[in-house]
Amino acid sequence: MKRPKRNDLCWCNSGKKYKKCHLRTDELGETSPPAMFDRPVGKQTVFPGIIGPPLTVPETIAFPEYAENGVPSPRKSSCKKETEDQIERMRLAGGLARKVLDEVLAQVRPGITTNELDCIAHRKAIELGCYPSPLNYMGFPKSLCTSVNEIVVHGIPDDRKLVDGDIINCDVTVYSHGMHGDCSETVFVGKVDEHSKKLVQVTWDSLMKSIDLVKPGIKINEIGRVVEEHVRKNGFSVVRQFTGHGIGETFHMEPYVAHFYERENRTIIEEGMTFTIEPMINAGTSKCNIWPDKWTAVTADLARSAQFEHTLLVTADGVDILTGGRTPWFLKS
Ligand code: MF3
Ligand code: CO
Ligand code: CO
Repeated sequence: MKRPKRNDLCWCNSGKKYKKCHLRTDELGETSPPAMFDRPVGKQTVFPGIIGPPLTVPETIAFPEYAENGVPSPRKSSCKKETEDQIERMRLAGGLARKVLDEVLAQVRPGITTNELDCIAHRKAIELGCYPSPLNYMGFPKSLCTSVNEIVVHGIPDDRKLVDGDIINCDVTVYSHGMHGDCSETVFVGKVDEHSKKLVQVTWDSLMKSIDLVKPGIKINEIGRVVEEHVRKNGFSVVRQFTGHGIGETFHMEPYVAHFYERENRTIIEEGMTFTIEPMINAGTSKCNIWPDKWTAVTADLARSAQFEHTLLVTADGVDILTGGRTPWFLKS
């Protein structure tokens, strides 16, 4: 692909003019190496759709601090849980997030809209006495994130119908007992091509391999080392723009958890910490662009992307998966 002119649309399909998008970074050589222009570009399969009004949550449910004004608490509390009570409440929140996610994933099929999946997540969360954490988090308009095909993360549910051959990540977070629990899975819609199956399997395996090594005393950058190693070996790439995070009374807190190797990030994992690991793995370039809606992250080359996420509790000698299920759904179908 030739380099666009200043006023042409950017090569990355963001819909923005080149001068407002990748012109500067291309000139500086910071990103998008020349190979990028030779890479076969995927086909856009997801377009901005119609987003319905936000759903409401009954007043009987406890709201997180940002529910009214969209602004999360700046409080930088540590994600280390000091008391049994805090840990128990984290376990409850994690278990409830898992229940909501299972309810959603059971309904994934060709023809259902992502908005319908959002309604299912919203209704189930409320039935279980939870607030659906994404709702109005920094202004996010829905209760669930749905990221289809080339969408990397933070897809907004809309009127798009799932079609045979799609892959979709559903990301559920709930707030209950004063804590957030956060998890996601990528699943197949009908019959999916072999390359997408491999992408999803490698992504799942990278999460499992990294969870396996978590225990007190190891450096947090070991997580990214293991994820990145497995992913690269299989010819895929690790997204760098989004990371895992500490979680608890607030949705996102320290430490951030990179899914690639960061030599300088030597934070030591301690017993009682609760954080997520949530690798986003791309079939092509690791680069992402954000849609004008300010949320939807899409691969720069429109190749597919997969993700899995668990909320973890570090125990004396290892880790508990607070959002653990049985077999992941993509292996059941
Ligand atoms: N659940 C996402 C995460 O894993 C965050 C979603 S933020 C939202 O961190 F506002 F998009 F919901
Ligand atoms: Co998360
Ligand atoms: Co999540």
